[in-house]
Amino acid sequence: MVNVAILGFGTVGSGVAEVMEENAISIAHNALEKIKVKRIVDVRDFPDSPFSEMITRDFSLVENDPDIKVVVETIGGAGVAYDYTKRSLLAGKSVVTSNKELVATHGHELLSIAKEKNVNYLFEASVGGGIPIIRPITQCLTANELDEVYGILNGTTNYILSQMVQGNVTFEEVLKDAQRLGYAEADPTADIEGYDAARKICILADLCFGKSVDPNKISISGIRGVTAQDVEYARRLGYKIKLLGRAYRLDGEHITAYVSPHLISKTSLLSNVDGVMNGIVVHGNALGEAMFYGAGAGKRPTASAVVADVIDAVKHMQARKYLGWEESEDGYVVDAADIKMRWYLRTGSGLEDIGRAFGNVRLISYPGDYPGAGPDEYAFATEPITGRELERMLSGMDVRSMFRILD
Ligand code: HSE
Repeated sequence: MVNVAILGFGTVGSGVAEVMEENAISIAHNALEKIKVKRIVDVRDFPDSPFSEMITRDFSLVENDPDIKVVVETIGGAGVAYDYTKRSLLAGKSVVTSNKELVATHGHELLSIAKEKNVNYLFEASVGGGIPIIRPITQCLTANELDEVYGILNGTTNYILSQMVQGNVTFEEVLKDAQRLGYAEADPTADIEGYDAARKICILADLCFGKSVDPNKISISGIRGVTAQDVEYARRLGYKIKLLGRAYRLDGEHITAYVSPHLISKTSLLSNVDGVMNGIVVHGNALGEAMFYGAGAGKRPTASAVVADVIDAVKHMQARKYLGWEESEDGYVVDAADIKMRWYLRTGSGLEDIGRAFGNVRLISYPGDYPGAGPDEYAFATEPITGRELERMLSGMDVRSMFRILD
């Protein structure tokens, strides 16, 4: 019998307790041992929960209990969660988490402690919710030189954008829905502004390219600026707007990583990844391309990945799994503003200004183009150009939207 503690009894933590109880028999079969939740740590009381007996506010009951071998951290954030994770690892316990912020910002250090203590720090649920992606990258694809990883990494914003395509709902209504369904972060700003996707693309880049990428230092833009007009113009061009996280090798020594809304062709596989689903594409020199698809957020899909890690931790009590990346040197990550791409622009400036800055452009929409087209605005696509050059060319123009195009 292996005893487990859960830190944080919110959406994911309670899902973990439920799945562990519901599937106890098959979990024991897969782990070759019974696994039992012994304690749950949370600052709140849950008098009506079937798990209320084991809930405590006192983390030291976990830290000092030699019978608890695996700790599930589902607190979130990089404050208390960081402290408790470190102390659990130092106490010789394996830790399993869905906490992308913690892995993205302190993963290198926590993995080093795990290595020193010969325990595991596992985080399959930190990217893509229930989709297997960490294990494929660190196990199944290790014969490859991986050179690119990108995808739809945030369920909340994908849900919002998908609903916008269908029309007739406000941003606020859809966001409330996403919160009710347990997709959004406690502070949904992290979803909307792209920080959540940034943490996830950094974890993927860490694993794919072997060096740490700091989410606080990459270029991030979220979906707040995407309007119904943009969605419609993109549709007319044969594109959808999706929030993508993307990281790729530029040469042997440099990579770039960023998060931003993109226009993606309706013929691309990712364009059919709608609602709360996530889709992640990995490119390797032997594999070519593979896409991983599934539920990217939500209580039970995320718990599914967490519990699988618990089982793996139990199966690897003696032999630690190798997982980790090196610190990176300054200049390793090239600013995405210096990478050339085509751009979609929506502007209130006239054709003369557009022509002066960009020459002949392919218009996507113009005033009076069709009922519903902005009465005073043009939308068009540029030739490949860096974001930095683009900002310069746009100076003085009335820019309403500006998104990358993924060709
Ligand atoms: N808020 C996150 C999302 C949860 O919407 O994708 C899963 O990491």
